[in-house]
Amino acid sequence: MKKRVLAGIRATGRLHLGNYLGAVKGMLQLQDDPQYETLYMVADAHTITTPFDVNELRKNRREVIIDYLAAGLDPDKSIIFQQSQVSEHFELAYYFSSVTTIARMQHLPTFKDKVKQYPHHTTMALLNYPVLMAADILVYKAGLVPAGLDQEPHLEVSREVARKMNQQYGMDFPEPVRLTTKGDYIPSLTGEGKMSKSVQGSYINLTDSVETIRKKIRSIPTATTAGGEMNPGVKSLFTFAELFIPNNVEQYKKEFSNGTLQFVTVKDAVAGAIYKQLEPLQLKRQQIEKDQAYVDKVIKEGAEKARTIASQTLKEVKEKMGLS
Ligand code: TYM
Repeated sequence: MKKRVLAGIRATGRLHLGNYLGAVKGMLQLQDDPQYETLYMVADAHTITTPFDVNELRKNRREVIIDYLAAGLDPDKSIIFQQSQVSEHFELAYYFSSVTTIARMQHLPTFKDKVKQYPHHTTMALLNYPVLMAADILVYKAGLVPAGLDQEPHLEVSREVARKMNQQYGMDFPEPVRLTTKGDYIPSLTGEGKMSKSVQGSYINLTDSVETIRKKIRSIPTATTAGGEMNPGVKSLFTFAELFIPNNVEQYKKEFSNGTLQFVTVKDAVAGAIYKQLEPLQLKRQQIEKDQAYVDKVIKEGAEKARTIASQTLKEVKEKMGLS
């Protein structure tokens, strides 16, 4: 039997470069590996764990699917679907919540961050976020998850849930691990923290034009002169250089050390290389946008295929837990 892979991205907007390098590139790599059966979803139900706008959610959910298709996810190779259309995820999350303590959830760094960000919106859904994520993965008995470094605490919870379900109820859940990649921590363009949709000025969208990308990369706060300790902005710029123009990095580092580096030269080279990678995706996106019926078909068929697998796991869990 093929090993299963599951990944997801919340419906908070169009995909940014962090999502692409941290998650989508790994998703593409595994889709083409015959050892794996790949399931890729838009995590629309996770989007309602923080304040949201109904119309935006509806729109963004579709944008993520279109971005997936533009990036090369292929419905003939992967099951592409919307999380909310496979209700088994939510039922399994409820069963999983019975083996998860409130204290464990309250101590997660991701939970604490969101509480700080939205102090008046500390909901049960937010507390339950990692439990739903465990259900997303384990409802397919997936053992491998292409995701960024920031998802590691959530995957740890998934492993704990799998262990408990196996010990207490004799299930055979795998303990899911993250597919690690070079791009699993993409820094913010502000030089502080990671690239994130919720931080203005921190990200590059996959649909940004070459001018926008150039402007955004130029805005990385580097120093006026090269040399000495690298500040956070310079470090970020070099991270992008390593990912997009690896052959030039050694030379640029030398120039940085001897004080001759022109930051704008590096910035424009990085921006050009990023656009070069994104241009084919943007062209493909334009084609897909014209065929909304195709997008509908992908979403509908994806949900059907996902449900077939998910319902088998649910049946088994209910039997083992004495609920059927
Ligand atoms: P989300 O929507 O925050 O991010 C989606 C994916 O993009 C990765 N990512 C990054 N990777 C590298 N550098 C960055 N700056 C960066 N920003 C985002 C994230 O690590 C993630 O892989 N909880 C998930 C959604 C989810 C999920 C799942 C993922 C729900 N259920 C099951 C995997 C499996 C999330 O919030 O992703």
